[in-house]
Amino acid sequence: MAKPSDDQNPPPSISTSLIHHPYTPPAGFGAPQPPVYKGSTVFFPTTAAMRARDWKQKAGYTYGLHGTPTTFLLEERIATLEGGVQTLLLPSGLAAITLVDFALLKSGDEVLLPENAYNPGKELARHELAQWGIGHRFYDPTQPDSLAAAITPQTRLVWLEAPGSITMEFPDLRALMQVARRHDCIVALDNTWGAGLALRPFEIEGGVDISMHALTKFPSGGGDVLMGAVTTRDEALHLTLKYAHMRMGWGVGGNDAEAVLRSLPSLPLRYDAQDRSGRALAQWWSQRPEVAQVLHPALPGSPGHEHWAALCTRAAGLFSIVFDRRFSTTQVDAFVDALRLFRIGYSWAGPVSLVVPYELGARRAMPVPDGVVVRFSVGLEEVSDLIADCEQALRALGAP
Ligand SMILES: Cc1ncc(COP(=O)(O)O)c(C=O)c1O
Repeated sequence: MAKPSDDQNPPPSISTSLIHHPYTPPAGFGAPQPPVYKGSTVFFPTTAAMRARDWKQKAGYTYGLHGTPTTFLLEERIATLEGGVQTLLLPSGLAAITLVDFALLKSGDEVLLPENAYNPGKELARHELAQWGIGHRFYDPTQPDSLAAAITPQTRLVWLEAPGSITMEFPDLRALMQVARRHDCIVALDNTWGAGLALRPFEIEGGVDISMHALTKFPSGGGDVLMGAVTTRDEALHLTLKYAHMRMGWGVGGNDAEAVLRSLPSLPLRYDAQDRSGRALAQWWSQRPEVAQVLHPALPGSPGHEHWAALCTRAAGLFSIVFDRRFSTTQVDAFVDALRLFRIGYSWAGPVSLVVPYELGARRAMPVPDGVVVRFSVGLEEVSDLIADCEQALRALGAP
């Protein structure tokens, strides 16, 4: 704040006054949404205060990368959502996966990933982790013995994902956790699908050490923010991750954090609405003669349905169908192109329903469906309109 002028100190020039203005608005503004605090630089009242400030604690502020009121608030709310104690925010879900890998693994260590994991996380292991001398193995998450067989004395970190990406197999999480625990591995779960609602990873018997969440999906809910979170309960583990987070310079902008904060109050309502529509649409597909299989963990007959039922009652509005093998990729593409409400695009959990066709053969060593897979992310449109859209697009599929 500019000091008032006196005889020795003439009034500052207009440009200085616009920067060092004497007015401070009154404190105590209360409104439904939290304010956006932005800043790389954070001011300290004195050098002593600057020296005394501990960047690791939420007792004060040191630099934008280490937190602002807006990011602290979001961290605390995500920690509550996940049932953890501490949360770190990152610029994407993939960055959150990267942080966990790079903070916890060193040359000579091994990381285990499910065959059906989010593919960029597998690519990270194949490329950057391998370049740093960190080994990886993929296991079949539908077979806990496959995890046991993949573990070696070098295995330090085991990733879990429930359900698997695209093919939606729901693993026996408790069995997998038991195997990992027996071998003293750190257990990290990609909890993006569970979103802290369908799945409470720290409360499962055996528990996880780390829950990673792509806030890009349900917490944002708008299809317009990229963000990731890493949540822990153990303070020492949190600090290991936090030091790496700081040294690697991960941080999120105030406007993005505010956008997620604004969406959080409606998260359970959106999740449940998308779940209802997703199940209705999946049921509809299960009656269609063009479809060989519907991959939705809440549907009996879907892979791992019994493991989903043992831990969850909710499900994300995300599922895949497998077209009968008599339909070619070109025919399925024509169906996808004919959809009017479902837009073709990656990601999920936004208001607009999305669709992506996949050919999985080359990507996975575990068994994959025999037929072209199409994944649907169900948005917030009226489900009868979505069903009608699928029905009209089926005409483009043509005769087998
Ligand atoms: C299961 C899962 N985990 C992680 C991610 C990565 O999130 P982001 O897109 O924010 O990097 C995705 C993105 O699709 C995902 O589906």
